[in-house]
Amino acid sequence: MSFQLLVVDDERLIRWSLEQTLAKGGYQVTSASTGEAALAAVREDPPDLILLDLKLPNIDGLQVLRQIKELSPHVQVLIMTAYADVGTAVEAMKLGAYDYLPKPIDFENLAVTIRNALEASQLKRKVQLLSEKHLYPYHFDRIVGTSRGIQEVIAMARKVARSEATTVLIEGESGTGKDLLAKAIHYESARAEEPFMEIACTAMPETLLESELFGHERGAFTDAKIQKKGLCEVAHGGTVFLDEIGDMSGGLQAKLLRVLEERSFRRVGGTKDITVDVRVIAASNRDLRQAVESGAFRKDLYYRLQVVTITIPPLRNRREDIRLLARHFLEYFSREFKKPLPCLSPEAERLLVQYEWPGNVRELRNVIERAMILEDTGDLLPGHLPPDIARLTASALPPPPRFRLTETGVVLEEVEREFVRQALELTQGNQTRAAPLLGLTRDELRYRVKKFGLNQKAEEDAD
Ligand SMILES: Nc1ncnc2c1ncn2[C@@H]1O[C@H](COP(=O)(O)OP(=O)(O)OP(=O)(O)O)[C@@H](O)[C@H]1O
Ligand SMILES: [Mg+2]
Repeated sequence: MSFQLLVVDDERLIRWSLEQTLAKGGYQVTSASTGEAALAAVREDPPDLILLDLKLPNIDGLQVLRQIKELSPHVQVLIMTAYADVGTAVEAMKLGAYDYLPKPIDFENLAVTIRNALEASQLKRKVQLLSEKHLYPYHFDRIVGTSRGIQEVIAMARKVARSEATTVLIEGESGTGKDLLAKAIHYESARAEEPFMEIACTAMPETLLESELFGHERGAFTDAKIQKKGLCEVAHGGTVFLDEIGDMSGGLQAKLLRVLEERSFRRVGGTKDITVDVRVIAASNRDLRQAVESGAFRKDLYYRLQVVTITIPPLRNRREDIRLLARHFLEYFSREFKKPLPCLSPEAERLLVQYEWPGNVRELRNVIERAMILEDTGDLLPGHLPPDIARLTASALPPPPRFRLTETGVVLEEVEREFVRQALELTQGNQTRAAPLLGLTRDELRYRVKKFGLNQKAEEDAD
């Protein structure tokens, strides 16, 4: 995609010669002969750079500049002025013009100035993107969880992020972190500095979704007063995230398939094929395979999408993450609410671990937020949890066993010996302190230490 330049000058010959020269330089050039026409062009489809003559009929050039900057602050503007009118040029720079060029234009100087201006605006955009990235660090290390389930998801997503794979499907129940994962994939990929555009395919009539995705030409439908670029075009070089892909209509599914296969599409009402380089991440909270079987989702699109599928397990299938996530959100909301970090009581924690979490991580986040608002004693207790969760009595589910016997079995005496050894280790051999750790009296412990031949020294010390 080459840069778009707009030449604004009332003299036909100047417009013509600039258009010729700049087109030869590889730019896409359009021109306008009046301030009004220039503003209309900016409104319709902002160019990357404008060469603006300050002496225009009917309207003051500075006024045009001011309005351009209001309409589209990122457009670079180079001022051309026939008069050695440094005062106006300075005024123009104050209004945000990048530089000014005295007329007659020195073409060599022009080429260099344009290149610098475009580089500067790209750099600015990059810096902006980087600082946004800094503000919203969507990285894999933001995804909390040590369960095997989530670790496998992260490992797979890391590989995908680094790869050239342009199509990814993320499946998982509502609230399992599909958005979070899609953003991490984008921001840890080589595409990180290009746009991440997201849209939910639900909640929108088909025609609107189509024009959001692919853009439209002026006059394509009644409300299409101006031409508009779609997400797929804006995201060029970056990532398009299509949430709730299962809700997309059949017609759009066909158009999306074409984007995935040929990287091209047409704007609504357009006749020109537009080619883009985007990674498409699609997400679905229902089983797409089922939708294919019922005929609601195109088989060919499904096969194209599921080449790389990442399935995030529901929270109830990775309960060991619950405690970690709860603490993570406690820390988050204590920062957010500027409240001291409360202590999560063991009873409350047990209830959280037992609950089924139909709304997954999002529900847990909401529960912790609510609890943080209610608690005021520094302890997060069962009473701070919603009734559904607080009602779960400890007997609803037996607590997980503290020790687990495996199929290889154990020798009970060895278990006993091992625990006695560990108790002595924890207390640096102090039997008086070690005994209560095992629920034993000192004499009972001394008997076992002797029986197992453990730590002669400790025994001597104790005597
Ligand atoms: N593993 C995780 N670590 C930290 N935060 C998480 C994790 N998973 C999800 N979250 C948080 O939970 C909330 C819900 O996650 P997200 O919006 O990504 O879910 P989703 O799968 O896209 O849901 P939906 O299907 O409803 O769109 C967000 O606030 C997100 O930051
Ligand atoms: Mg989502």
